[in-house]
Amino acid sequence: MLHMMTTLNSRAGRVALLAVFSILTLIWILPRHGASVSPIFYAGNDYKSSHPIDALIDTAETDLHELLGTQAHDLQTAADQYRARRGRHPPPGFGEWYEFAKSKDSLIIEEFFDQIYHDLTPYWAIEPKELRRQARSIPTRITVRNKTTILKTDEPRNWMDSWFDLVARLEDGLPDLDMPINVMDETRLVVPWEEINDYVQKEQANRVMTKPSGVVHEYMSLTEWDQEDMEPYDPGFAVPGEGGYWGMARVGCPPRSPARNITLPMVDFSTPPWEYDNFERMSYHGYVSNYTLAKDPCVRPEMQVLHGTFLEPISVSTSHNLMPLFGGSKLPMNNEILLPPAMYWAQNDHYSGGEKEHGGVWESKTTKALWRGAATGGRAREPNWTGFQRHRFMSMTNATSVAQAEKNQSHGINFRLPNYADYKLKDDGFVPQLLSEYTDTGFNHLVCTPYNEADPTCPYLDPYFEVAPGMPMKEMYNFKYLPDLDGNSFSGRYRGFMLSTSLPIKATIYNEWHDSRLIPWVHFVPMDTTYIDFYGILAYFLGGRDKTARKIALAGKAWGEKVLRREDMEIYTYRLLLEYARICDDRREFLGYVDDLNMS
Ligand SMILES: *[C@@H]1O[C@H](CO)[C@@H](O)[C@H](O)[C@H]1NC(C)=O
Ligand SMILES: *[C@@H]1O[C@H](CO)[C@@H](O)[C@H](O)[C@H]1NC(C)=O
Ligand SMILES: *[C@@H]1O[C@H](CO)[C@@H](O)[C@H](O)[C@H]1NC(C)=O
Ligand SMILES: *[C@@H]1O[C@H](CO)[C@@H](O)[C@H](O)[C@H]1NC(C)=O
Ligand SMILES: *[C@@H]1O[C@H](CO)[C@@H](O)[C@H](O)[C@H]1NC(C)=O
Ligand SMILES: *[C@@H]1O[C@H](CO)[C@@H](O)[C@H](O)[C@H]1NC(C)=O
Repeated sequence: MLHMMTTLNSRAGRVALLAVFSILTLIWILPRHGASVSPIFYAGNDYKSSHPIDALIDTAETDLHELLGTQAHDLQTAADQYRARRGRHPPPGFGEWYEFAKSKDSLIIEEFFDQIYHDLTPYWAIEPKELRRQARSIPTRITVRNKTTILKTDEPRNWMDSWFDLVARLEDGLPDLDMPINVMDETRLVVPWEEINDYVQKEQANRVMTKPSGVVHEYMSLTEWDQEDMEPYDPGFAVPGEGGYWGMARVGCPPRSPARNITLPMVDFSTPPWEYDNFERMSYHGYVSNYTLAKDPCVRPEMQVLHGTFLEPISVSTSHNLMPLFGGSKLPMNNEILLPPAMYWAQNDHYSGGEKEHGGVWESKTTKALWRGAATGGRAREPNWTGFQRHRFMSMTNATSVAQAEKNQSHGINFRLPNYADYKLKDDGFVPQLLSEYTDTGFNHLVCTPYNEADPTCPYLDPYFEVAPGMPMKEMYNFKYLPDLDGNSFSGRYRGFMLSTSLPIKATIYNEWHDSRLIPWVHFVPMDTTYIDFYGILAYFLGGRDKTARKIALAGKAWGEKVLRREDMEIYTYRLLLEYARICDDRREFLGYVDDLNMS
């Protein structure tokens, strides 16, 4: 509390505050409220009345219940559901895949695999032979021949060993294939939306449920084809021209989406971004209700000044051509084929806190939101560092800078405060006090440009950020609330956070393999990348809803132990690679699994 007083400059403010403190202290000692509620919540913040988040949680619980109802308990049902949802026979090997999943006690829910079909559908419009030529031309790739996995690369690459290990474990069930891998942090493919739309239409027009008697069960061998001479494919990777990465990426958005609307003013980088109305319009009383929509930069053109990906990525090498390329995350406008990220598969304590470390019991944790990490997100140079997402979150959770902004028409150098009334937050110093008591956030490295690994300082960031000591993941689990933010791309910590006994508060614009299996407001708390909802979220949980926070934290963990296990990553990748191999096969139209139909 003393901390907060230093942020209040006016004498009147100090006097008023002392008066409030004395009353608060009196109320605080009354036993009926329970020790988990801080005095600051009695200063008129009515924590008992109904709240928009209650409704969001209710709806999400219903969604989960419906999803669970679609579970398949036998191969026949799984195959039927496949045909109903995908309009084709399952790929050859589906029976073994099902047994594999079953032997690992997996929930079989067809919707969990939607991402695979979203990613692969356009490739049906390209000839299999051409897909194989493209795949073979990318230097870093994993190949399978005669059930043996081989790693090919021009030079040693980060994370390739981890992905190799994942595929190699599945090799007994896999056909021959060539899987080019994106070894950069950043995504690589943006095919114009119109072109993808043509491809998708073509796939739909040619989709057939072949008569069982005409179905082929064996994938082709690539051994012979390996000997064939071919002209290497030029993927056409290029760097951004004018308009930066945003200019490159927006062509992947639908023609009538806000990101494609050229009559919208181009963003002015000379002033900090406070274009937050767009989120307010799509939110439910200021909170994320449709997470898929809220995280999509195609409907959030303001992201071009609110996220490092669009301001200045560390590196860009993007192609507008569709070719097979696998990666761990992508933006909605990217066309990569998603794999479970190598960071999730690698047993790497830096990103997981250790496979066995999940944190202690909820009650033993510090009641604070904790974030610690480096100021990544791209090259956050002067002056446009003010648009970077991690910097914004640090400033918005800094009681001093928030108190300054309150006296500056709600504007800080790199953020805008929400309208407190919209979030039922008092404007009597409550938010800065909430932050100083209940958040512990900071950069452990400022990642200045030009970058000097050994020097954590940075002349243009030093006035705004103090360098804090780093913290290993397993210590982060000692805190109840764990906000999770994008860095140069997705956050590699997220799986660890989900599996921990703490509550993840997640903000991202990236998509991952697991998206259709995690339900916001049941398994984690979604937050907007403007972070304008953060204070409301924090006040909701801290103001008497500790049990709700605990419930979501533990529901997320229990669910993660069913759907985010290493086994689940294997099962997803196995299914994905059967589908991928089929698309690259000369007889793809005829390949299928129909054993279940022949039996009856
Ligand atoms: C795979 O097996 C085929 C047939 O048994 C054989 O001709 C071929 O050489 C093998 N290829 C590799 C890469 O081992
Ligand atoms: C584009 O943006 C302008 C300005 O907001 C708006 O008036 C117009 O309707 C938009 N056009 C489309 C096609 O969405
Ligand atoms: C959420 O938004 C997506 C993308 O616009 C849309 O397809 C979906 O139907 C929406 N979901 C709900 C429940 O409204
Ligand atoms: C950000 O600033 C750098 C350096 O001033 C500049 O090169 C870059 O184009 C800026 N990015 C945008 C999106 O304006
Ligand atoms: C006050 O707001 C302006 C923009 O309205 C901003 O440029 C400035 O940095 C803010 N000052 C402080 C101390 O946050
Ligand atoms: C909080 O903001 C103040 C003022 O901008 C700054 O001096 C301080 O270093 C910041 N604290 C942290 C932990 O970044």
